[in-house]
Amino acid sequence: MKKVLVAGATGYLGRYLIKALNTQGHQVRALARNPEKLDDVKNDIDKIIKAEITQPDTLKGICHDSDVVISSIGITRQKDGLKYMDVDYQANKNLLEEAINSGVKKFIYVSVLNGRLFRDLKMIEAKERFADDLKSSGIDYSIIRPNGFFSDMTEVLQMARQGKVYLIGDGHYKSNPIHGQDLADFIVEKMGSAEKEIDVGGPEIFTQNEIAGMAFQALGKKEKIIHIPLWIRDITLKLMRSFTSQKTYGPIEFFMTVMTHDMIAPQAGSEYLMEYFQTSHNC
Ligand SMILES: NC(=O)c1ccc[n+]([C@@H]2O[C@H](COP(=O)([O-])OP(=O)(O)OC[C@H]3O[C@@H](n4cnc5c(N)ncnc54)[C@H](OP(=O)(O)O)[C@@H]3O)[C@@H](O)[C@H]2O)c1
Repeated sequence: MKKVLVAGATGYLGRYLIKALNTQGHQVRALARNPEKLDDVKNDIDKIIKAEITQPDTLKGICHDSDVVISSIGITRQKDGLKYMDVDYQANKNLLEEAINSGVKKFIYVSVLNGRLFRDLKMIEAKERFADDLKSSGIDYSIIRPNGFFSDMTEVLQMARQGKVYLIGDGHYKSNPIHGQDLADFIVEKMGSAEKEIDVGGPEIFTQNEIAGMAFQALGKKEKIIHIPLWIRDITLKLMRSFTSQKTYGPIEFFMTVMTHDMIAPQAGSEYLMEYFQTSHNC
């Protein structure tokens, strides 16, 4: 049994981490700026700690007596006016320093698959900078590099619901997205592992055309996929980089880029995308 502090506890992955840790017999501490967001998982948590990870003075003592810290802190859909460097880099850095000062034995950081390949992208730059600092910090660590989450596949389902799925390029690139529950179980199982950087994806590999087709099938709708030529993507990204803020173009730049690469990681888990689409559709 380990005492584990989860940062990012209120997020998609964080909530599954809380459940997986509790199920596997660990003592769970959950860090949150808005603890009321944890009401539905509070029975799985031993201690809720309220703090603002972007404000180091609120973090004093939060890691006290924890063996492991797992961070899935990062900007995804948050609209706080903060930049990736403020949160994905600096907030995680604040937490790392507090963990080191408190004698935490291991720091596990959830980044993204192929982060090193895409480190020029705004969304990834801050994550990779933190990963670099973590590697040179002296603490024992693991960097988990997961493929896209099922939660992001909901965007495809949403487009299908509206009648058309838009893909960049010909839709032949492949990936193996992973369910939050499978990823959380995997991270908890790897908690004692000596591996430093761990790529992971879900159990099934699909082309983007196949994922779009499954979304239509789950909805019982006729398939209509629009393939956007790469030159349109390039112009769109150039314009967005010039005329919008990083919180607008950051996620779009990331998704438009990964859609033109195969994103395949070692397979893990047992949750199937079609079942997820069918359940999400019925919710
Ligand atoms: N989605 C994907 O496909 C995917 C794939 C690979 C890796 N990842 C990465 O995995 C990590 C977790 O993803 P997720 O889907 O679980 O994200 P999520 O649901 O948005 O959760 C992010 C967590 O970070 C916290 N956070 C964000 N900004 C904050 C701020 N300014 N101050 C304090 N806390 C803040 C959120 O707290 P609040 O609830 O209070 O906002 C939340 O607990 C992210 O770094 C993401 O980039 C995602």
